[in-house]
Amino acid sequence: MQSVSHHSLFDSVALGAVRCPNRFAMAPLTRNRTKQPGNIPTELNATYYAQRAQMGLIVSEATQVSQEGQGYLWTPGIYTQAQIDGWKLVTHAVQAAGGRIALQLWHVGRVSHSSLQPGGGKPLSPSGVGDPTLKTFAIGPSGAPGPVDCTPPREMSHADIERTLDDYTIAARNAKLAGFQCVEIHAANGYLIEQFLVPGTNRRTDGWGGSVEKRGRFLVEAFARVAQVFGKDRVGVRLSPNGAFNAMPEFAEWREQFDHAAHALRGAMYLHLYDQASPESRGCGREYAGELRKRFGGPLILCGGFTPEEAQRCIDAGQCDMVAFGKAAISNPDLVARVRAGLPLAPWNQATFYGGGAEGYTDYPTAT
Ligand code: PHB
Repeated sequence: MQSVSHHSLFDSVALGAVRCPNRFAMAPLTRNRTKQPGNIPTELNATYYAQRAQMGLIVSEATQVSQEGQGYLWTPGIYTQAQIDGWKLVTHAVQAAGGRIALQLWHVGRVSHSSLQPGGGKPLSPSGVGDPTLKTFAIGPSGAPGPVDCTPPREMSHADIERTLDDYTIAARNAKLAGFQCVEIHAANGYLIEQFLVPGTNRRTDGWGGSVEKRGRFLVEAFARVAQVFGKDRVGVRLSPNGAFNAMPEFAEWREQFDHAAHALRGAMYLHLYDQASPESRGCGREYAGELRKRFGGPLILCGGFTPEEAQRCIDAGQCDMVAFGKAAISNPDLVARVRAGLPLAPWNQATFYGGGAEGYTDYPTAT
């Protein structure tokens, strides 16, 4: 029998140790507007996030745990004192406006370019498997920023794996210093942790690959490191089961892989699924979200092109507890109040998603 919930999007929900006043999450969104050099958050970023403080939970844009973890120009980091100080502006502004924000901890793995790597080196990945179609945004051959082919990666040594796990510990400590009350581990969308989960990009035969459990080990260990700092009930995890984004190869046993992850992550603050299923792309589908929610036994956030009406239907069907909105949260800073008032949603301008300043960032008006 399908489990049925009677919660409205406007009802509060407990995500681990954090109580959220409604079930609208702001999805993590890359906006490439940090101070240069140094990839440092600023007052402008603080204004943007604080404008959206009515969202039940804000998940920050993906934030690299180390320089090696960076894959795109101008994304923020959480590994220098200046970045910690910049993020303090954000957490203070959001909390002063009554909001809750999780920092999303990110390592891109193979989705990078040597111009972004320490010493101009090759990006890291579990098995050195690249993909000729994989692109990122970096300084190209002409010296100008633009889309570039990713640099073929190298296979991580055991020392690389240990160092990278240490980077998660340090990043979590820094997030705490910066005032975040919770964090989200980015294990989705073809970045490092998903490269460990998927056999096409993890061909290892040591303790870190070769079976469902071994491919899942990097995620489980990264979670343990971060939970050591925050407590399990303040660490969420984002997954994109059966996703194709960033040229991820398909594999038959994806359900077993993600069932294992959900079970191993029991006690986490939440699971956050980006369901990439659409007429153009593979994804896990809404029914699988409901199955994973049961297996995990805790709150599940679902993301993937939702309207508020569809979001309510998924909550009603027991497929999720909360829904994350991306583009709608960019163009509607008062999204929750607008939906509650039955007002139409403002359209977004794709041209101002990435890079630039206040235009298309902090200048979308409220309607309530
Ligand atoms: C991006 O910067 O394009 C990006 C970042 C993180 C994601 C997906 C896309 O999870």
